[in-house]
Amino acid sequence: MTNTTTDQQLAARALAVRKSAYGHYSGFKVGAALLDDKGHVHVGCNVENAAYPQGSCAETGAIAAMVAAGGKRIRTIAVAGGREQVSTCTPCGGCRQRISEFADTNTRILVLNDADSWQSFSIQDLLPASFKLD
Ligand code: THU
Repeated sequence: MTNTTTDQQLAARALAVRKSAYGHYSGFKVGAALLDDKGHVHVGCNVENAAYPQGSCAETGAIAAMVAAGGKRIRTIAVAGGREQVSTCTPCGGCRQRISEFADTNTRILVLNDADSWQSFSIQDLLPASFKLD
């Protein structure tokens, strides 16, 4: 399928799903939207829990949705996080490893600075010398 989803659209999806985030304990809400190898978009948000370690990250949710839908690779993933307003929220270490599993050198990780701008990273930028089975 042709990739018709623009970075702007992916950022908008990340911002939109962030509104659903359950950041009840930290007050920090994160939304993630990813474009897969088939041109499909999958979204996720953080879901916290009274038993703190049981919370899950937005990227984790989006990746799980991709895998459940049959997607194989991440082309682009946009991440929007922050307390009140969106502020720069780079993926946590665990999510870098999870993204790495489905990323290649062309995968772009878009980290929103605010609603209108973002920085683009590669997985090599965020997780150099990573652990991979190959
Ligand atoms: N969080 C994410 O959803 N993604 C990240 O990459 C960083 C952190 C969430 C986890 C927790 O619910 C909240 O942000 C504060 O750490």
